[in-house]
Amino acid sequence: MIELKSKREIQLIGEAGEIIKKVFAAVCPMIAEGVATAALDSVAEKVILENGGEPAFKGYRGYPKTACISLNEAVVHGIPNGRQLKKGDLVSFDIGVKRKGFYADAARTWQVGTPDPAKQALIDAAKASLDGALAAYKTGWRIGDLSETIQQYVEKRGFQVVRDYAGHGIGRQLHEDPQVPNYGKAGRGAKIEPGLVLAIEPMVTAGHYAVETLEDGWTVVTKDRKNASHYEDTIAFTESGFINLTSDGVL
Ligand code: MF3
Ligand code: CO
Repeated sequence: MIELKSKREIQLIGEAGEIIKKVFAAVCPMIAEGVATAALDSVAEKVILENGGEPAFKGYRGYPKTACISLNEAVVHGIPNGRQLKKGDLVSFDIGVKRKGFYADAARTWQVGTPDPAKQALIDAAKASLDGALAAYKTGWRIGDLSETIQQYVEKRGFQVVRDYAGHGIGRQLHEDPQVPNYGKAGRGAKIEPGLVLAIEPMVTAGHYAVETLEDGWTVVTKDRKNASHYEDTIAFTESGFINLTSDGVL
């Protein structure tokens, strides 16, 4: 069942979103050769706690850390550990925050060192597909309109979208209805109504979109071990359009 949010509830999700922006601002400048992913996780947790939030992922279905950090062929749900970043690594950093009973969720992909153009194109495709879908958004759209637009943006650039994981409603719970697939058909699915809050999260692959989970039970990697990128924001739809609750366009 889809739970539409009041203005007040959207404001509270926005407070969680503000903490996420602070996490990105702290972690992004740390992305460099030799930094362990666990160090990024520690800083994320510190920023969340200092700002009156709770890490949303920690303990979720037994997940052990604050952030999900997925490198290169890892798409989502990578567990931070002692592994040190290397030049050219793609770092997908996914973070959820709970504050006053409401959740926000967002992800970015960064590159370590001098950007490689092919890897940057993969990163840009995930971001551009979300930005493009939001820019195209019109009153009366259904979830399928978002899904198809995201898919088209990605495929136009020669990449693919992961099918096995999707975006989601968000609010009093981290994952709420409806699911927001990154592929689909315009005109299908639930109507996007004022008060709908969605975590929209394109997961993009350089090769085939098929994925599998590693032995650790969490890390989702591409089957062909080609690179992936992930970009996610928490978006509130309103009478007059939408509000991005986890980005002000800087990071
Ligand atoms: N952002 C992820 C999602 O929406 C959440 C990671 S799952 C967790 O699926 F277990 F790490 F919390
Ligand atoms: Co999410």
